[in-house]
Amino acid sequence: MGFPQTRLRRLRSTPSLRRMLAAPALPPARLIYPVFLVDGKKRREPIPSLAGQARLSVDMLEQELAPAAEAGVGGFLFFGVPEDKDPLGKGSCAEHGLVPEALRVTRKAFPEQVLFTDVCLCEYTDHGHCGILADGELDNDLSIEALGRMAVAHAAAGAHVVAPSAMMDGQVAAIRGALDATGHKTTLILSYSTKFASALYGPFRDAAKSAPAFGDRRGYQAPYDDPHQALRESLEDEAEGADMLMVKPSMFYLDILCRLRERTLLPIAAYHVSGEYAMLHAAAEKGYGDLSALIREAAVALRRAGADFIIAYWAPEWRKHLG
Ligand code: PBG
Ligand code: ZN
Repeated sequence: MGFPQTRLRRLRSTPSLRRMLAAPALPPARLIYPVFLVDGKKRREPIPSLAGQARLSVDMLEQELAPAAEAGVGGFLFFGVPEDKDPLGKGSCAEHGLVPEALRVTRKAFPEQVLFTDVCLCEYTDHGHCGILADGELDNDLSIEALGRMAVAHAAAGAHVVAPSAMMDGQVAAIRGALDATGHKTTLILSYSTKFASALYGPFRDAAKSAPAFGDRRGYQAPYDDPHQALRESLEDEAEGADMLMVKPSMFYLDILCRLRERTLLPIAAYHVSGEYAMLHAAAEKGYGDLSALIREAAVALRRAGADFIIAYWAPEWRKHLG
């Protein structure tokens, strides 16, 4: 049977029907809010390329993150942006580093939140690469040892979930091994498992002061023009013991999300990255679209493609965007 008996518009002909048939709105508990940490006290440095976002000193967290917690976000993802950087990124595993201190404060202040930490060396190395260099080249196996130490420091300070983002081979197995060897058997690993070498990280690198001093990250992040490698990256991390997987960035990669969804039963995160956030903001600012409508459409697309939860700079404002 076809037209004129079949009329698809009947199903959407009234607001009540549309409401009845719509997928339920994304609950804020499925959103994770990224937080940038800086040294010092009473610091709240707005990030020009990320509208509404700021780098915070640890003493500001209780006050600054309260609205997000009240809005019911699922958790926070911490990035340390220390002033002191060196070739080995030594600060990354300091017991009293920015991330461990932030964990101690937020564990107490927001006991209901899931606390995630970014595990990568690029915010701690003076060269800005995601691992340790030997003869000017990234040394994979030295780097994963350092990532293991960093994850242990975070777990010891109270991280619920460590999230390695360096795209080194074997990083999940190395971190699982390091965590288990130090008694952190219940700490979860969210791997940034399919992380593309993308032009959409610009504002983040500005926020985290982590742009590589030379070269780029194409030797470790996944190529966006080879979907098979991108999928293998996630499947490999599952085999190494990751508890959760991720596709990053998100809006250009719905096909990858969808294909990964069909191949894994692990929870999948989508990271709506800085450049995606900046794009939507810039469009809204120019009057080319309504910000809340753009964000709603993006969020539904990520869910439809198969994301279980979303890491997003707009997490605290989600209810406002829902209208
Ligand atoms: C660090 C890291 C990056 C992002 C998250 N973790 C930057 C990069 O790989 O250059 C990007 C997040 C964003 O753009 O919002 N490895
Ligand atoms: Zn990195």
